[in-house]
Amino acid sequence: MSKIKVAVIGCGTIANSAHIPAYIKNDDVEIKYFCDIIPERAEACVEKYGCGTAVADYHDFLNDPEIEAVSVCTHNDFHSIISIDFLRAGKNVLCEKPAARILSEALEMQKVAHETGKVLNIGVCNRFNTYVHKIRELIDAGELGEVYHVYASFRAHRSIPGIGGDFTTKAKSGGGALIDWGVHYLDLIMYCCGDPKPVTASGEAFCKLGKDIKNYVYKSMWAEGTAEMDGTYDVDDSVVGVVRTSGPVISFNGAWAQNIGVSETFIDFMGDKGGIRLKYCGDFTLYSTKNGMLTETKVECKTTDMYQNEINDFICCVKTGDKNRQNIDYAVETSKILQAIYDSSASHREIIID
Ligand SMILES: NC(=O)c1ccc[n+]([C@@H]2O[C@H](COP(=O)([O-])OP(=O)(O)OC[C@H]3O[C@@H](n4cnc5c(N)ncnc54)[C@H](O)[C@@H]3O)[C@@H](O)[C@H]2O)c1
Repeated sequence: MSKIKVAVIGCGTIANSAHIPAYIKNDDVEIKYFCDIIPERAEACVEKYGCGTAVADYHDFLNDPEIEAVSVCTHNDFHSIISIDFLRAGKNVLCEKPAARILSEALEMQKVAHETGKVLNIGVCNRFNTYVHKIRELIDAGELGEVYHVYASFRAHRSIPGIGGDFTTKAKSGGGALIDWGVHYLDLIMYCCGDPKPVTASGEAFCKLGKDIKNYVYKSMWAEGTAEMDGTYDVDDSVVGVVRTSGPVISFNGAWAQNIGVSETFIDFMGDKGGIRLKYCGDFTLYSTKNGMLTETKVECKTTDMYQNEINDFICCVKTGDKNRQNIDYAVETSKILQAIYDSSASHREIIID
């Protein structure tokens, strides 16, 4: 059987650390194009991985009949434009998280996916994390009883990425800590709780520690190569919120930067029979009772690579046309929450989510 030919658009960090290596390890796939508006990045991929052709403009292969699927690994400002172009060209798309900068863009992506009948997955990779999936199974099996509240802490001491650059420029990113990190936590919670419908949201997003770019004090910076000390900083570096859903209430405190001692990155699932604390990107502990005793179970198991799982499952979807757990229909619900929190912060009011 001939291999499924794919293209990777945006040859930066996530493409090189996750998408490309996972495609290469999948025997059913051949990467035909590496595309980046910075041509040297695409050329470096051709050289490094020993396959494909380097292209600077994705329109050059948009209508290549051999291409069945693409990964969109650009910054958030191009997610909806490129995904929609490829869906309309009859291709299947795996687009990085967040789905888009604002809800209306995500809804348009969903609409076009439905119209074309093509697969549109969003790279909310935690849905393929082994421990996260185990938590979903435990909740489904009733081990926690009724899960009534989930609390997420995604707080760092100093972790603003590429200050002044794309991450901190709202026109490009759509927002800061909430849309960049919060999307992972909120989506993970939605997945574990069986994708409940969001009902209302209230929150405040703060732009405090990074806005004076030149005087921002830090030890190291993720994406430092993209920092611009004369650039723009108009996004949230810290956010707090409460979301009512058809399932549990979700509350959170998140920050790229906060004046706290150490980073606090965990999620507490609170049920009336048991509770779970998940270390983000780590294992978890189950708290419960048995025969009149309090129990604490540290759960460990063999894990698999979530990015490899994500790509393998995407390729299965390409073959079958099936909707999987990363389908845009789920990501749109998380986009509604993100939008509602930003709208709530702007208006200082609770927002009702349709
Ligand atoms: N799933 C995860 O865990 C995870 C982790 C990191 C980043 N991300 C997401 O991945 C996306 C990219 O982040 P990154 O850190 O890799 O950024 P990056 O800057 O390292 O890479 C983005 C690349 O896209 C290229 N690009 C921009 N516009 C383009 C266009 N129109 N056509 C072709 N190429 C274009 C840029 O030149 C750059 O090389 C973001 O949306 C981010 O939120 C996801």
